[in-house]
Amino acid sequence: MSQNNYYITTPVFYVNDVPHIGHAYTSIVCDVISRYMKLCGKNVKFITGTDEHGQKVEKSAWKANMSPQNFVDKNADIFRNMTKILNLSHNDFIRTTEDRHKIAVHDFWKKLEDSHNIYKGTYSGWYSVQDETYFTEDELTKDRLAPTGAPVEWVEEPSYFFALSKWQTRLLQHYENNPDFIQPKSLRNEVISFIRNGLTDLSVSRNNFSWGIKVPGNEEYVIYVWLDALVNYLSALGYPNQTMEFSNFWPESVHVIGKDILRFHAVYWPAFLMAANIVLPKSIVAHGWWTNEGQKISKSLGNVISPFDLVQEFGVDPVRYFLMREITFGTDGNFVKKNLILRYNTELANKVGNLLQRTLCFAYKYCDQKIPAVEIEYIDKLYNLQFFQDIICRIQENNTYIKLFNINKILDNIIHMTDEANRYIDIEQPWLLRTTDVVKMQQVLYGVLEIVRYLGIVLQVFVPNSASNMLNQLGISQDQRQFKHLSKEFALQPGAVLKQPTPVFLRI
Ligand code: MSP
Repeated sequence: MSQNNYYITTPVFYVNDVPHIGHAYTSIVCDVISRYMKLCGKNVKFITGTDEHGQKVEKSAWKANMSPQNFVDKNADIFRNMTKILNLSHNDFIRTTEDRHKIAVHDFWKKLEDSHNIYKGTYSGWYSVQDETYFTEDELTKDRLAPTGAPVEWVEEPSYFFALSKWQTRLLQHYENNPDFIQPKSLRNEVISFIRNGLTDLSVSRNNFSWGIKVPGNEEYVIYVWLDALVNYLSALGYPNQTMEFSNFWPESVHVIGKDILRFHAVYWPAFLMAANIVLPKSIVAHGWWTNEGQKISKSLGNVISPFDLVQEFGVDPVRYFLMREITFGTDGNFVKKNLILRYNTELANKVGNLLQRTLCFAYKYCDQKIPAVEIEYIDKLYNLQFFQDIICRIQENNTYIKLFNINKILDNIIHMTDEANRYIDIEQPWLLRTTDVVKMQQVLYGVLEIVRYLGIVLQVFVPNSASNMLNQLGISQDQRQFKHLSKEFALQPGAVLKQPTPVFLRI
């Protein structure tokens, strides 16, 4: 086990429907964190995939006049395509209908059974197919709906139960001993009060439909889709085989989820794992929900936002940038198209793009198509200038922000750095220095281009295509694009030849 490994997962997405902005958001958050950790030099495993069993998927398949298997094959492909158009850097895509997953679920179930955490009884209560969740009478709304607004049906059937109640104290102890287990803090408190109200045992099988993984030794029952789905985080690492992959990555795992599925991840999942005698993940990180122009997103309102349409209209980098920039991680966000355009144009096009373009073009024109040929000693001086020291502080702050999943703060920092660089140019006025002090002009330009190098390296996390274009234009080789290269030892090479600059962030 090494501190240098990092395992990050998206939820596996239900394939009853096509991808929407919520799926895209969770996926991009994981991609951003994953790319950040890789640039820190960590050995990262990033997994995403699809949740393909259960009554909801089965019903949708029949409705589409397809067999469940054909239906899930078709829709899983669409989710896989989403990972491509969003430029995700995942290492694996897991489908819960794959054999490797079924083997893992069977093994996991047997562990729960062997440790006497599963017993047979009869379930009677409310079930929401849309949420794939059991609800108690007091959880229903006055209109007798699930708290999510989904319809519920009365279910009365023989069932296997997981002895959740016996894990109550151990769960509370775990949260207490590991304050970062559930993030953000506000949600941690919600989970704690939910548990303090008392846990009841959980029905973990269904027997009135068949689209699922069969209970080992009793084919009449399928395993509850949430128990099945959660195990994907293990099966993607080769569980139940005790592979190196598993022992390296599992203890370093971070599950990123939407706040609506926190209970499954922060209560059921750790309880299952404790019962199976498997170490718990490092943390469960929950994000907020997007609305569309102020309205809840739902199929019935017809306001679902397709990531495919968005990327087609604006391009992948503007979409990635907007989704990460617009909301403070953990809180809800409102998707407004106009704001996407505004953010991109004012921040990336006008600020970062303009800084890059004006300095590169200036150097190309007045420094002989080269990175300004400052004396090597000047680089030390530059790094000691107050404004450059501030830039370095901001880069260091980013490491704290990423630990707290404060993604938009890193982008704040990028924009501040850009503003500072633009201000530095405006103060130093290199266009005047051209006739009065060419040495100073070269130093100013060099300093700004060095900041642009910093910006390009950090921006790889958020807008990989555009950042790579920036770094290519600066002539930074592929093996010098990590965070460890943000230092004077790897500063731009004075006098290196530049290619004809081309604009990177075109206005939308
Ligand atoms: N299949 C389960 C997860 C199983 S993980 C072991 C599931 N799938 S889902 O497709 O319904 O949702 C996947 C993710 O999308 C969840 O994290 C959910 O929070 C997120 N979102 C769904 N709608 C959303 C928004 N409107 N905004 C942001 N994220 C939302 O749940």
